Amino acid sequence: GEPGRLEGQRVLVTAGGTVERIDPVRYITNDSSGKMGYAIAEEAVRMGAKVTLVSGPSALPVPCGVEIVRIQSALDMREAVLSRLEASHLIVKAAAVADYRPAVVAEQKIKKKSDSLTLDLIKNPDILQEIGTLKKHQFVVGFAAETEALDEHAMDKLSRKNCDLIVGNDVSQEGAGFSGDTNVVRIYDRNGLVEALPIQSKKDVARRLLELAADRMPTAARN
Ligand code: C5P
Repeated sequence: GEPGRLEGQRVLVTAGGTVERIDPVRYITNDSSGKMGYAIAEEAVRMGAKVTLVSGPSALPVPCGVEIVRIQSALDMREAVLSRLEASHLIVKAAAVADYRPAVVAEQKIKKKSDSLTLDLIKNPDILQEIGTLKKHQFVVGFAAETEALDEHAMDKLSRKNCDLIVGNDVSQEGAGFSGDTNVVRIYDRNGLVEALPIQSKKDVARRLLELAADRMPTAARN
């Protein structure tokens, strides 16, 4: 990513997993270190953008120059993102959003009683899909973490959620996925595969992804 490539651009990044409360001491969450999203936020700053990072709970250091908005649930994330949609040029949704949340949040700690307990879950809104419906000038990048048929699932998500780019990663592969410092990704646009990146640091993946986005953004500086 050439410095200056995203000068004057407002970039909104989501990262980490959401936390869906069951009761005051328990919750449901997703595996996600937040590392990919934090790396994207850091690289976007380096490329000259004004960056807001909407993050689920994470102990990662906030990159220098990044505005951090800390959230817990998918509903919190939705509000934080939608309220900033209009002002954003580029939106990168690297967060692992919980697909379901408890239908009711118990006010008191749930007591241990019978041998089984059924937890009622209801669907969370799909934030990326909403952005895809609402977007006008915004350039939108989604992620697809899959364990099989990556090309097919990633392209399906790109079209269903109306993204401009989608980053597919096969999380069953060595060196890919949530916890590590490296990733192995395939990046697609509306026409299909754009680039298959060999294993590399999340920082390098972030840089390449932002270059591909800038190449396609009408408002970004040309190379
Ligand atoms: O969960 P799924 O594989 O469909 O996620 C693909 C993309 O959609 C990711 O970019 C993720 O951040 C986004 N997403 C979202 N809201 C959800 C579920 C997923 O924005 N409720």
